[in-house]
Amino acid sequence: MSRRSLLVGSGKYLPARVVTNDELSSRVDTSDEWIRTRTGICQRHVADNGETCVSMAVEAARNALADAGLDASAIDLVIVGTSTPDQAFPSVAVRVLGELGTTGGYGFDVSAACSGFIYALSVADGLIRAGSARGALVIGSEVYSRILDWEDRTTSVLFGDGAGAVVLRASEPGEAERGILATHLHADGSVGDILYVDGAVGLREHSGYLRMNGREVFRHAVSKLASSVDEVLESVGLGYQDVSWLVPHQANIRIIEGVAKKLQMSMEQVVVTVDRHANTSAASIPLALDEARRDGRIRSGDLVLMEALGGGLTWGSALVRM
Ligand code: UT7
Repeated sequence: MSRRSLLVGSGKYLPARVVTNDELSSRVDTSDEWIRTRTGICQRHVADNGETCVSMAVEAARNALADAGLDASAIDLVIVGTSTPDQAFPSVAVRVLGELGTTGGYGFDVSAACSGFIYALSVADGLIRAGSARGALVIGSEVYSRILDWEDRTTSVLFGDGAGAVVLRASEPGEAERGILATHLHADGSVGDILYVDGAVGLREHSGYLRMNGREVFRHAVSKLASSVDEVLESVGLGYQDVSWLVPHQANIRIIEGVAKKLQMSMEQVVVTVDRHANTSAASIPLALDEARRDGRIRSGDLVLMEALGGGLTWGSALVRM
């Protein structure tokens, strides 16, 4: 049987500082009630000056390696999904390799906004299947607090900071029943103007802010995610009833509930972190996955469906047998 990518560890990092809806209500014209009922968000973690995209990615990576019981020397590929890198270059991925003391591998960042983790996972899976990597760290790390216009109530209440990571390893003969079964990626540049950053991001100063037509993004998310989950299941001949867990991108509880309903799944089978983390873009899926693996909900053998949509637009899904 052909080689597969097994998901053998996960980890996370969340900044210590928690900002509640009430705290935001003292800065902009909003309320805890509006934010909770429209989005499901109650609080978010926000990085302090010493916390960067790289530092959070490194902590999540170390946490994931410890969970996998692997040394950094087992890693020859790092891919970081991020749209808030600290610098234009070196990439976050190569700086993670440096911090881990790994010199034999290679790495790069993937820019696909909130779909960044799904994109990065798909690319890592392709490289492992092709024999171009044996052990990979796939990380989502984001500091959206540095691209938010804190005066804009329509965006500033929606996002948070954090990093999540998974460790992939090439299967050995006989192990190939598990692992990443399929990934599907999409993009539509014709609607790039409904969610974008009007500049870049950097460690020292703001030069761009996130801008979003939330209602339009919501409309695209509901329809595109519904077809994306069908596509990934159909591609491997599985149905809704086969899915053990939905680990969705965490943008809005109403979008998550819509996908769960489409999949005929109870919310008990959906991993939700949006209430505590808000939208951490490319970090949201690995953060949620790690939480549910560590608290014992997601177990070996479970079929996990992940999906995301973000700026670009980009969207996609992944199906993993744990
Ligand atoms: O991860 C990347 C993908 N991003 C997403 O998936 C986000 C998708 N979009 C959404 O989640 C929702 O569209 C939002 C949460 C952004 C907005 O919810 P909505 O139910 O679509 O609200 P709306 O944009 O239609 O706004 C309703 C009202 C407006 O007032 P008027 O025009 O009806 O008077 C807004 O000005 O709510 C107002 N509003 C607010 N009020 C209090 C917008 N933001 C706020 C706020 N507090 N923070």
